[in-house]
Amino acid sequence: MEKIADWQWYDFEEVGSTNDTVKNFCTEAGKKIVVTAQSQNNGRGRRGRSWVGLEGNLFMSMALEVPLHELGQVIFVVTLAMLNSIKKLAPQLDVKLKWPNDVLVNGCKISGILLEKASGDYLVIGIGVNIAAYPEIKDIVYKTTSLRQAGCETDRITFLKTYLWEFDDCLAVWRQEGFPPVREQWLSAAAHLGGKIRVNGEKESKEGIFEGVDNNGMLLLNRNGNVEKIYAGDIFYL
Ligand code: BTN
Repeated sequence: MEKIADWQWYDFEEVGSTNDTVKNFCTEAGKKIVVTAQSQNNGRGRRGRSWVGLEGNLFMSMALEVPLHELGQVIFVVTLAMLNSIKKLAPQLDVKLKWPNDVLVNGCKISGILLEKASGDYLVIGIGVNIAAYPEIKDIVYKTTSLRQAGCETDRITFLKTYLWEFDDCLAVWRQEGFPPVREQWLSAAAHLGGKIRVNGEKESKEGIFEGVDNNGMLLLNRNGNVEKIYAGDIFYL
């Protein structure tokens, strides 16, 4: 175990999923734990998808105590810290945020984030970052890229350290000042704000104008003058 800021960091050569491994460390309250792996052979994505463990990329899972009623806001802290980390390492890059979980570089997905509950109040924040490689997806739903492809040469450990410091800064703002400043910063980097989008939910798909996010992080979709709140879904820019 090593320390990065006040995080206990465990790095493994190979795991199935870092989200599972970090859960083994959530045995006592009050800790901030991060697990990384050089190689991940059974990575999970959102909505039952898998996450391909390409060599040289970052696979990390943080375990952090978060009260249940604040869960909806955490993803904004997580993605904002990702934006700030990329900007710190490569200020010239075009980085945007896509509701709810995605970070885009040059309009392409660069990272994947999967939140899961662990024991007690622990939340697991699993993050995959395309540092050196990106998957070629056949039936393209969205385009992907890597930091290397975008012209930023870094490595998984440098990125991890940068990210944890940026995450702690965003976490401190959120804990001290609440959600409004986090939401404002997130919105200032949001892709397609005010534009037409389609939201594919579990059961139905809806189109409208992307008006922002509410106090709990729900997406505000204006459909012919009626603003609807969307809790979950995949969005597509029209
Ligand atoms: C997605 O975009 O669908 C989310 C992908 C999340 C992938 C990361 S990689 C590290 C952590 N371990 C996992 O099994 N998944 C997350």
